[in-house]
Amino acid sequence: MRFFKTFALVVTSSAGLMAVSLCAAAQTAKKPVPQLGKNSVKEVIAAMTLREKVTLLVGAGRAPKPKSAGNGVSNGWVPEPPMIGHTETKVPGAAGNTNAIPRLGIPSLVLSDGPAGVRISPTRKGDNHTYYATAFPVGTLLASSWDPTVVESVGRAFGNEVKEYGVDILLAPGVNIHRNPLNGRNFEYYSEDPLVAGKIAAALIRGVQSNGVGTSIKHFAANNQETNRNYVSSIVSERALREIYLKTFRLAIAESNPWTVMSSYNRLNDVYTAQRHDLLTTVLRNEWKFKGFVMTDWGGGYDWVAEMKAGNDLIMPGRPDQIETIIDAVQHDSLSVKVLDSNVEHMLNIILKSPAFKQYAYSNHPDLKAHAAIARRAAAEGMILLKNQSQALPMTTNVKTVAAFGNATYNTIPGGTGSGEVNKAYTTSVYQGLLNAGYLPDESLKNVYGRFFKSLTDPEHPHRGSSELMASDSLLKATASHNDVALITISRNAGEGHDRNLETNYNLTPEEKQNFKKIAEAFHGKGKKVIAVLNIGGVIDMKGWQDDADAILLAWQPGQEAGDAIADLLSGKVNPSGKLATTFPVSYSDVPSAKNFPGTPAERPAQVIYQEGIYVGYRYYDTYKVKPQYEFGYGLSYTNFAVSNLKLSSTQFNGLLTASVVVKNTGKVAGKEVVQIYISAPTQTIDKPEQELKAFAKTHLLQPGESQTLTFAIRSADLASYHTRSSEWITDAGKYTLKAGTSSRDIKQTATFNVAKALVVEKDHQVLQTPVNITEYKGSASK
Ligand code: BGC
Repeated sequence: MRFFKTFALVVTSSAGLMAVSLCAAAQTAKKPVPQLGKNSVKEVIAAMTLREKVTLLVGAGRAPKPKSAGNGVSNGWVPEPPMIGHTETKVPGAAGNTNAIPRLGIPSLVLSDGPAGVRISPTRKGDNHTYYATAFPVGTLLASSWDPTVVESVGRAFGNEVKEYGVDILLAPGVNIHRNPLNGRNFEYYSEDPLVAGKIAAALIRGVQSNGVGTSIKHFAANNQETNRNYVSSIVSERALREIYLKTFRLAIAESNPWTVMSSYNRLNDVYTAQRHDLLTTVLRNEWKFKGFVMTDWGGGYDWVAEMKAGNDLIMPGRPDQIETIIDAVQHDSLSVKVLDSNVEHMLNIILKSPAFKQYAYSNHPDLKAHAAIARRAAAEGMILLKNQSQALPMTTNVKTVAAFGNATYNTIPGGTGSGEVNKAYTTSVYQGLLNAGYLPDESLKNVYGRFFKSLTDPEHPHRGSSELMASDSLLKATASHNDVALITISRNAGEGHDRNLETNYNLTPEEKQNFKKIAEAFHGKGKKVIAVLNIGGVIDMKGWQDDADAILLAWQPGQEAGDAIADLLSGKVNPSGKLATTFPVSYSDVPSAKNFPGTPAERPAQVIYQEGIYVGYRYYDTYKVKPQYEFGYGLSYTNFAVSNLKLSSTQFNGLLTASVVVKNTGKVAGKEVVQIYISAPTQTIDKPEQELKAFAKTHLLQPGESQTLTFAIRSADLASYHTRSSEWITDAGKYTLKAGTSSRDIKQTATFNVAKALVVEKDHQVLQTPVNITEYKGSASK
């Protein structure tokens, strides 16, 4: 009788699926039950029932919907499409939880988005306390800092919020390559280049995890678009995977040991990534020695048993029918319990490190003020000065009054939408930033925009479509006479679930261009300058308007301190030092993947062929001699630098080469410079890009006249290419040219060295093959 009572209790309390198997406890009541942390992981696993194992491997989901009579759904659950996570259990607004197994001392973990700040509900019913999180700059901006030290400091503050809000694992960073500028989630991601993306992601992970909380590097892998993201098959060659799309993950994992990896929604070479044993076990665990656990994206994949077998340890957000399916497979011999044991082991090893396991008494009071200061500093480090004619910037003593145009001047966009959005307490607008910095923005113009926002149905998001520029003739006449300068903020937003529209989001609309021109004519007519600020999450078209701007500051989506950080650069308080980690092409049609995005058929693509192969971003533009608008690595400063004295440790490569250069600030104000090391390799055995980034470093703040020596290490693995036929990474014999530049097209110094004999750096498994032959681009053949 007692047994049944206990069982009934369990069923009732399983609404959130947080506790199971007290009945199993009853069965083993006489033996002391092993406890996680006190007994070994193996002993705990040996004591687990099948149901307990599976319950740990399937997330706690949402509370089941109440059964309604005759709805035909037996357990009250309906299959859910891919979703942005949301739970009300434990930490409201977090993306999901894992199931606890109290009998064995296994706690439930809280998993929360996202890449630019902790995404939890800012307010809770019957609770006066607020739970705002800092909106840090988006990933693309962080990467544009080219400064792992700055990004690690962001990570430390970010991770502190994760911990103090009771979260165990942050579902970030997102490191998918910027394959195509229309990807709606590019703002979350870092770069078109795996080295920059990998190094910056590693810095963020190290910072976050230094708090004793985890991260989930995502979305593994080849998830480079949102259109039909839960079905589309990315068809990618092994070489492009190894050299570009997997490389970011590999680098970041090697340098930061993220606790978890999130597999992606898409299929890769026709098989869901969450169901690919070769990807999740052969490559990730066996080749790269990843030690954490792998989780699905929210609702990713469809074959739960295949996911278990592949080494996708945790299914999120989790549904009861998934548990039943997996148990059934074990009971019918189509899944070995050994597979589950190994998945459970991966999870328990991480759970042992978690704040939940350590019963950390979180405060719900992170130091938001201190973190805001860090967000502001980082934002300023990653903004890029694209153009600065006749020293239009900084706006020093000659500028006091500012005519500020554009919706985003008043409603500045801190970050993109979807799971990457943060519930922050505020966003400082460009207008407010100008005021705070001591400028006098035109109040009548502000009122005009205010009236416009009031007329909108969704004033919170006036910039969902294109950015509006007011340019009525009478308005312009007055503002051009009364103000010292025109400042035009152009904004774009995008996010999860949709790619950007070429005509209305990538391009400026004809109306925007026309209004930009009108404003420029009015101000230039009075001998006044026009400054453009780009408050965007991804690359836009620059044609037909940029010539009318005297200066262009690419502010990206800089987080909640947006306005103050932008004003820091406009005023010269901070000297711009950001560099593009993604190319701005002259035209969208120049983008190497333009012909193959978002795949076929266009409305609901089943397949997207990565025909450009390894020729992504500058690897394509440089090899195919296509001139970009603003090249990879580009960014101006208010001062000048000289890069000299390139020295190599040897001209004969012997496994490790060091290169050093001296950077001198030759201008009049303090500033920082990024030196980028590109290498052109011999191409006798295999086609290779014209050049590839192999190392980079940013100076400290150099005073006028001050110099700093930067040193770079190049190892054999850095020089190797992936030879598909033999599955080997090979560093070819021959002559290599090393170039030290301040952009991919502004090379300051070059030197050559020689590799005497080809080196096989690594032999990998022959996996991840394409289902069809792809006629890939072959760069060197076209040279
Ligand atoms: C997104 C993930 C996110 C998850 C949980 C999914 O829709 O693709 O990036 O972490 O939701 O919210």
